[in-house]
Amino acid sequence: MEVAALRAAGTVPGLGTILVGDDGPSARYVAMKHEDCAQVGIASFHEHLPADASQADVEAAVRRFDEDPAIDAFLVQLPLPAGLDEERVLLAVDPDKDVDGLHPVNLGRLVMGAPGPLPCTPAGIVELLAAYAVPVEGRHVVVIGRGLTIGRPLALLLALRRPGCNAAVTVVHTGVADLARYVRDADVVIAAAGRAGLVTADMVKPGAAVVGAGVSWEGRKLLSDVADDVACVAGFLTPRIGGVGPMTRAMLLRNAVEAATRRVRA
Ligand code: GUN
Repeated sequence: MEVAALRAAGTVPGLGTILVGDDGPSARYVAMKHEDCAQVGIASFHEHLPADASQADVEAAVRRFDEDPAIDAFLVQLPLPAGLDEERVLLAVDPDKDVDGLHPVNLGRLVMGAPGPLPCTPAGIVELLAAYAVPVEGRHVVVIGRGLTIGRPLALLLALRRPGCNAAVTVVHTGVADLARYVRDADVVIAAAGRAGLVTADMVKPGAAVVGAGVSWEGRKLLSDVADDVACVAGFLTPRIGGVGPMTRAMLLRNAVEAATRRVRA
């Protein structure tokens, strides 16, 4: 169901965010998610905990959202400040309200190829490649990075037997000797390592598709994992700004609406 249909049926979908600490980029990402919700008619809820919040404080906030009937789905913005146990926080999220698809139950569904909320950035990348008719099925996709939010679930998703996926997937990372050897063979390169300028033109097969998903920050300047000179050889390249980021946000809204729909139909 879409937002309008849910509202017409008397349900206002609700999305929650929990932010711990004062990391600038994280705060901006969270603010954008609330702007997106307002634009499409999703109610949004927010808890901001101080940087010195304890593990118990964060888990208590998660439990409040778990039990709040106005909230269909929510996320805890990652990364958490050092010293907090991310895995325990993710485990405390009700899997039915897990808008990130990062609860072990939902990651397990992804491994099995069973229906469930997909992690937002991986789902957004698959949608983006399909929307631009970039061939993926049966092709060699090299995913650079194995982080929980992008690389690891993306590799699982791309290998599934489903439209827009069904690829030969190689996962590499910054600890791999001669990274270029693997990248050079790729039909599609997805850079998600969070290392500025990691993928350079000499590493890319002419005509290959290149997706820049990993970012890092130099003050307020957003740096891409993909060097600018890649534009000279790639057949398809996502822009540094306005590429993968908006797709992630769109998938977040989709997961929230799907969670609200499940609740209405339960
Ligand atoms: N930080 C960067 N990406 C993400 C994401 O997809 N989900 C959450 N919760 N935090 C993030």
